[in-house]
Amino acid sequence: MQRRLLIVSNRLPLTIEKTDNLYIPRQSSGGLISAVEAYLNSKGKNNFTEQLWAGVPGVDREVWDKTELDESHYQFMPIFTSQEDYEHYYNGFSNSLLWPLFHYFPSYAAYEPSFFEAYLSVNKVFCETLSATIREDDVVWIHDYHLLPLAGMLREKHPNITIGLFMHIPFPSYELFRVIPKKWQRALLEGMLGADLIGFHTADYVAHFLKSVDIALKTTHDNKYIQWGTRQVQVDAFPISIDFSLFNNAFHQPEIQSLRKKYEALKANKKMLFSVDRLDYTKGILNRLVAYERFLQQYPEYIGNVVFILVVVPSRDAIAKYNEGKKMIDEYIGNLNSSMGSINWQPVIYQYDHLTFEELLALYTTCDVALITPLRDGMNLVAKEFIASRQDQSGVLILSEMAGASAELTDALLINPNDTEEIAESIAIALKLSPEEQESRLNSMQQAIKKYDVNAWAVDFFGELKKVKSLQLKFEVK
Ligand code: G6P
Repeated sequence: MQRRLLIVSNRLPLTIEKTDNLYIPRQSSGGLISAVEAYLNSKGKNNFTEQLWAGVPGVDREVWDKTELDESHYQFMPIFTSQEDYEHYYNGFSNSLLWPLFHYFPSYAAYEPSFFEAYLSVNKVFCETLSATIREDDVVWIHDYHLLPLAGMLREKHPNITIGLFMHIPFPSYELFRVIPKKWQRALLEGMLGADLIGFHTADYVAHFLKSVDIALKTTHDNKYIQWGTRQVQVDAFPISIDFSLFNNAFHQPEIQSLRKKYEALKANKKMLFSVDRLDYTKGILNRLVAYERFLQQYPEYIGNVVFILVVVPSRDAIAKYNEGKKMIDEYIGNLNSSMGSINWQPVIYQYDHLTFEELLALYTTCDVALITPLRDGMNLVAKEFIASRQDQSGVLILSEMAGASAELTDALLINPNDTEEIAESIAIALKLSPEEQESRLNSMQQAIKKYDVNAWAVDFFGELKKVKSLQLKFEVK
């Protein structure tokens, strides 16, 4: 494909932070950014002539213009919106309706008409900015729930362009989707159907989406195709992945080795559990802590002999539910450390901050157990990163069945995140798992990730996009 690739997501892969009057870019967090970045940085592996990434920079034009950018792998296309619209679009419709509802937290969902209006307005701004540069042979790759109407808006202006849409969060069952006001349901689904190919992480999300479209838009899908006007839209599963070699090869990097030594000293002779998540009620951080406390109560021989390194990455702190969640986590850890800890030992070592890649890798490869317990998660790339990083073939993954990754990582110790007894039991099992068993489980999961890495994911997606586009062209010629 000798064409330009336009990637579109709400957030650009860099976030600009102000320190001492200087604006410093750092990598944004979240699965979308890590996966798409990894794909774009894998030089020479794709055939696009140029790659651009459009998104909201989070700073005004003046600051943006002053920021030094590395555009060696792709160029940035900043999208500027009004502050008020952005607030209602991002904190409002996207993260106070779509996010909670699609993650099965209907009671957290806010149905505010002004949020919906702002959601459409910001999508329009994306559409107009992109339209100014779009060429008919561009491939547009839209990402995630912030931009569901965008494909439809672009399609109206540019009927022939190629558009792929990838959803990074679950698509809920119709019983949840239907609680959205009907007018909004239609705007979301019709917008999505502006794409030629719509990708989800799992077959379940695909099935939920197809059913919602059939009912809300009165269509009848045929296998993975929806006939929408004169176009045939394909809906398919593409489980997102990681750059396996990047994580696997990191094991012997000098900086990671020296950090690992530091963490090993901290660990001393104890066992180490590790978890890292963005601050989010969907991640099940509190359940994890309850389960850990239960584990310590049931297996007191581990008191003083195990430590849990819990890293929470700040996220969406303007939303009340996130702040409340943070307070509850802080309090729980404080109580646990004071009730069970001593001068010599703290059950939980807690960090509320970002990690560098090196720190993350050193922690992945020092711990004995990675404890990943989301209540609901589209995929969860931390699980795949942990597995890939264990070049030493040791370590155990405890993983929630509610994460999309559990469909592939079946050799993890799978748990129901609401069952704190089961999690406690699994921690005990994990800490006793023989080296042979650890190796054999890791090995089979590593093979699976290696085979379908982030590059395979993108190649698979673009391959299907090309196929469905040529199907459509044939259909139009007839
Ligand atoms: C999830 C979403 C992404 C989002 C990321 C970080 O992974 O699927 O679209 O970028 O969380 O959230 P934030 O709100 O900080 O962009």
